[in-house]
Amino acid sequence: MRILIVGSGGREHALAWKIAQSPLVKKIYCAPGNAGIAGVAECVPLRSSDIEGLLKFAEENQIDLTVVGPEDPLILGIVDRFESKGLRIFGPSADPARIEGSKAFSKHLMQTANIPTADYRVCESAISANAYLHEYYALHGADFPVVIKADGLAAGKGVIVAQNSEEARNAIHRMMSERVFGDAGAQVVIEECLFGEEASIMAITDGVTVLPLLPSQDHKRIGEGDTGANTGGMGAYTPVPACPPSIVQLAMTQILEPAVAAIGELGLPYQGVLYAGIMITESGLKTIEFNCRLGDPETQVVLPMLQSDLVPLLIAVTDCTLDKQQPKWRSGAATTVVAASKGYPAHYETGKVITGLDSAALQENCVVFHAGTRFEGDEVVTDGGRVLSVTGLGASIMDAVANAYVGMSHLNFEGMTYRKDIAYRALRG
Ligand code: AMP
Ligand code: GLY
Repeated sequence: MRILIVGSGGREHALAWKIAQSPLVKKIYCAPGNAGIAGVAECVPLRSSDIEGLLKFAEENQIDLTVVGPEDPLILGIVDRFESKGLRIFGPSADPARIEGSKAFSKHLMQTANIPTADYRVCESAISANAYLHEYYALHGADFPVVIKADGLAAGKGVIVAQNSEEARNAIHRMMSERVFGDAGAQVVIEECLFGEEASIMAITDGVTVLPLLPSQDHKRIGEGDTGANTGGMGAYTPVPACPPSIVQLAMTQILEPAVAAIGELGLPYQGVLYAGIMITESGLKTIEFNCRLGDPETQVVLPMLQSDLVPLLIAVTDCTLDKQQPKWRSGAATTVVAASKGYPAHYETGKVITGLDSAALQENCVVFHAGTRFEGDEVVTDGGRVLSVTGLGASIMDAVANAYVGMSHLNFEGMTYRKDIAYRALRG
């Protein structure tokens, strides 16, 4: 088979790495890819949002299966466009992808399908947002945290957990009046703050069968001890002690299966990966968000734990035969640590030379997945906020963490920052 992967991050490198192990695959392309992906796939200089360019490429190069990594092309309708030309593509159509594209749509769907989530209000102006905050604080007191979410896409950064009413009003002003997240802030969702442990539960579905992947836990904040700004994710691990199979099963019956069914009732079936960010609270599971794709960096721990071939699973989704598939998982654990550019998630510089990639690659039980990297001559240089992630594998989470940090110790670039406490919740026992 000839496969095209769309995207350029650590998730897409993990996809390319896993797909390259399949005996079914002869050739992999990745658009646009990165310096690491170039080791397992031929990189094609097309942006992931260039749907017409990607379509032309797939037609001209007899691509048998296109696998879409990021949310933007899905929300823009890449799947609808490819399918209209009879091309096989893995991911949800634009309409179901709104589960990630619009927080307001996603909250409404949860409400109608009885999926547990935080209480919320959708506000279309700063005046109505401030009026709702007034009600919220009358109920909870002025020092209670509240969560403010820009409605549209903001690369995982459009969510502010405001600790008090002053921070909350500030966040509304920045999102709705100053438009720091652009049009994503035209509408906001204001949400009750939930407390507990978070987990990422991703499932693969053809619209009828919903198969859970291994649960993982991401570290969204930039700083150790989960402090500082929200990022796309600074590290992840699996398995998650706080999320045993019984919790995954609950998440399937209370959250993922009803969401797939509710979307199907709206018209188009949901096909691809559905990712539920959940909070395990004292009063049960609550859904924080849905994503219409694999998580990044969660994919960098979940795919290395998949023992069986990924490609038949992807094909089964497009053929609606997922009920015949039984993915097999390795025992043990995986942990990934993300190295970011200095300044991320705010302003950062690129073009810094990365050293130690060859010696890190020789490290046992360790895989380096590139994210924001590119070639400059013979050198690999930084090209994004999240630059790469190092996945360690081991018999236990402790071993996996140790292997990830040993791998990371080989690597360097000017301004490299990474959290030293990935998986701390699992390790504190
Ligand atoms: P989201 O983009 O909706 O996943 O939000 C990003 C992060 O903000 C989540 O991973 C949580 O850490 C935090 N968050 C979002 N919603 C809530 C909530 N209702 N209560 C507490 N934390 C939240
Ligand atoms: N790591 C969080 C996400 O992929 O949205």
